[in-house]
Amino acid sequence: VIFEDSNVASVQVAQEIADLIRKKQALGQNCVLGLATGSSPIKVYEELVRMHKEEGLSFSNVITFNLDEYLPMDKGNMQSYYYFMHEHLFNHVDIPEENINIPDGSIPQEDVVEYCLSYEKKIKDHGGIDFQLLGIGRTGHIGFNEPGSHYNSGTRIITLDHITRVDAAPSFLGIDNVPRKAITMGIATVRSAKRIVLLGWGNNKAKIIKKTIEGEISSHVPATYLQEHNNATFVLDKGAGSEL
Ligand code: GLP
Repeated sequence: VIFEDSNVASVQVAQEIADLIRKKQALGQNCVLGLATGSSPIKVYEELVRMHKEEGLSFSNVITFNLDEYLPMDKGNMQSYYYFMHEHLFNHVDIPEENINIPDGSIPQEDVVEYCLSYEKKIKDHGGIDFQLLGIGRTGHIGFNEPGSHYNSGTRIITLDHITRVDAAPSFLGIDNVPRKAITMGIATVRSAKRIVLLGWGNNKAKIIKKTIEGEISSHVPATYLQEHNNATFVLDKGAGSEL
C-alpha cells in the first residue's frame, strides 16, 4: 500500500494495532506484539501513546517482544533499543514492565546461545506473535537478519553488515563505536507471526523496497522471504514506493 504521506500511513497502522489490542481485551486475551526500532516506527508509537492518553487505550493485556538489540549493549545506554523503546512507547503507556521483552545485550558471551533459545521459547509459550511491526535496513535486513540469514533461522547472535554499521554510525558518533554484533529474532520467528506490517519511508529505501517486493526470494535480501507470508503488508510512502 502506497500512501501520500508517512504520517497518515503510521496513524492507520497504529489504528490496526489498537483495534487488535481492544479485540483481544474484549475476549479476555493477551495481545502479543512484535516490535521494531529505528526511525520508521516512531510515528506509530507516538500515535499509540496519543490513543492511550486521549482515548483510554490500555496496554494492560499487551505482551511485547522486540526484534533485536546490539551486543554488547547496556540497557542504560542511550543507543540501546531498550532505551529507545522506553523513550518512545513503554514509559508513556500502562504496559506492565514484566510484559516487556527486549533481547538483553548485556548477557555474557558464553550465555548468549542459551539466552536466545529461551527468548524464542518464551514467544512460543505466549502463543506466538499476533502482530509483527517491521522496518527494513538498506541491506534488506528485517530485525538484524542480514544477508545470508537462513529462512529457518531463530533468535540468535549475528554479525552486523558493514552497511548497517555505516547507517548506525551517526547515532553512535562514529562507526568505531557501533557494536559489531547483535541479537536478533530469526526469519522463522518473524515468519511465524500471524500478521506482519513492514514500514518503508523515503527515497533512500526505494531500491531495497523494489528488490524486496519484486525481486527473487533469496537469502541475499532476507526481507524477500516476506513475499511468502500470507498476511503481510508493505506500508510505504511515495518515496519508498517510487521504484515499484
Ligand atoms: C536497524 C534495526 C531494524 C530497522 C532498521 C531501519 O537496523 N535493527 O529493525 O528496520 O534499523 O531503520 P530505520 O527505520 O531508521 O530506517
